[in-house]
Amino acid sequence: MNTNFNDVISKVLIDEDSIQKKIKQIATNINQFYEDEPQDVLLVGILRGSIMFMSDLAKYLKIDCKLDFMDVSSYGDSTESSGNVKIVKDLDTDVKDLNVLIIEDIIDSGNTLYFLVDTLKQRGAKSIKIVTLLDKPERREKDVQPDWTGFKIPDEFVVGYGLDYAQHYRNLPYIGVLKREVYEK
Ligand code: IMP
Ligand code: MG
Repeated sequence: MNTNFNDVISKVLIDEDSIQKKIKQIATNINQFYEDEPQDVLLVGILRGSIMFMSDLAKYLKIDCKLDFMDVSSYGDSTESSGNVKIVKDLDTDVKDLNVLIIEDIIDSGNTLYFLVDTLKQRGAKSIKIVTLLDKPERREKDVQPDWTGFKIPDEFVVGYGLDYAQHYRNLPYIGVLKREVYEK
């Protein structure tokens, strides 16, 4: 089944080029930050939204790093966070005494990252940093401060470049605003 994305996307918020330029800038800053760090860094990608961001970002990192993944859920198929975060797939790596860099697609209420940071702290991580491609600061419920942010965006539901609505539209190469009629029907 082919989809005409014009039927579901009201506008392109961030195009492919802008995403790539921004990721290079972020990578430069992250490289500088870890420059003098003797120990390697564990990149923790939060499934599934961060996959494209993580793979593009990792290519520009010059630090010694390993990759692992975690899947947490708080949404189901709705567009609002439930605030009740659960681990769906845990890390394979023991993070005790490791430098962890959490890679997120978007921070919305902050519930997911608040839970993740707390969990990794309890497991004894040496340091925990957060990089997010997108941030919707207006919707914050928990005080979570990303260390590196790609774009601050308004309170609109976006899809593409890894982000989904009910598992769809992750494969779009840009970030687009989802038409309200798609999720309000
Ligand atoms: P939070 O716990 O409310 O901060 O939500 C974080 C998670 O919600 C992200 O990892 C996304 O998976 C999802 N999310 C939040 N806003 C959007 C959006 O606009 N589009 C797609 N997914 C979103
Ligand atoms: Mg997510």
